[in-house]
Amino acid sequence: MDSLSVLAMAAAAAPRSQVPHSVPNFSIRKARSEDIPLLGPVERSAAEIFRTVNLGSLADDETTVAPSILATMADSNHLLVAVNESDQPIGFVGGMNIDGNFHIVEISVAQAVQGKGVGSALMAEMTRQVKEEKFMVMTLTTYRNVAWNGPWYKKLGFQEVTAEEMGKEYLKIWDVESQHGHDMASRCVMRKSL
Ligand SMILES: CC(C)(COP(=O)(O)OP(=O)(O)OC[C@H]1O[C@@H](n2cnc3c(N)ncnc32)[C@H](O)[C@@H]1OP(=O)(O)O)[C@@H](O)C(=O)NCCC(=O)NCCS
Repeated sequence: MDSLSVLAMAAAAAPRSQVPHSVPNFSIRKARSEDIPLLGPVERSAAEIFRTVNLGSLADDETTVAPSILATMADSNHLLVAVNESDQPIGFVGGMNIDGNFHIVEISVAQAVQGKGVGSALMAEMTRQVKEEKFMVMTLTTYRNVAWNGPWYKKLGFQEVTAEEMGKEYLKIWDVESQHGHDMASRCVMRKSL
């Protein structure tokens, strides 16, 4: 059994009092090329949760991470999927090297299984992996005040920083997000030392 399966089993075997009701039976593995067409639908399903906080435009937006970017992340072993018992993706996390930091490009968990620890398990495994690869800093951009964004990442050890202090590659990301129609006053860059 590889370390990824052990991790998912450990989540399933946690004491009952710490386990959210009806934990899905899932495992985490590296993404394969055949997973890639299935990740857009997972991302769209995940975004439905934004309707609950008046950010329905994010759910309406049909743009998902480009298959070519997913393929690039998969080729460099930086795309992990959470899969159900039928080996179908129910969530994923992917990232890439930006200026020597490991930058999370996207994490999404399908609506039906959100809030059951799948996202936390994906983040934990990606963190373990990139630490092993000697990355020293992890970064991401997110909504500061949405419960499953800024406050969740804060619980995972991330702190808010500015794009300016992170450097020009981050300013470029900031620009792209702004062009994409995000409300930048509500967005932030977050960073975690590994
Ligand atoms: C963010 C996301 C990947 C988390 O995945 P998940 O499987 O739900 O994660 P977890 O079950 O491990 O829970 C993460 C935390 O989010 C918060 N959360 C999850 N669902 C929530 C909900 N419906 N309402 C409020 N908070 C919620 C909780 O704080 C939870 O942590 P806790 O259980 O320790 O309190 C998932 O919510 C998602 O896909 N959201 C839409 C896409 C997105 O926002 N991606 C991140 C972009 S930066």
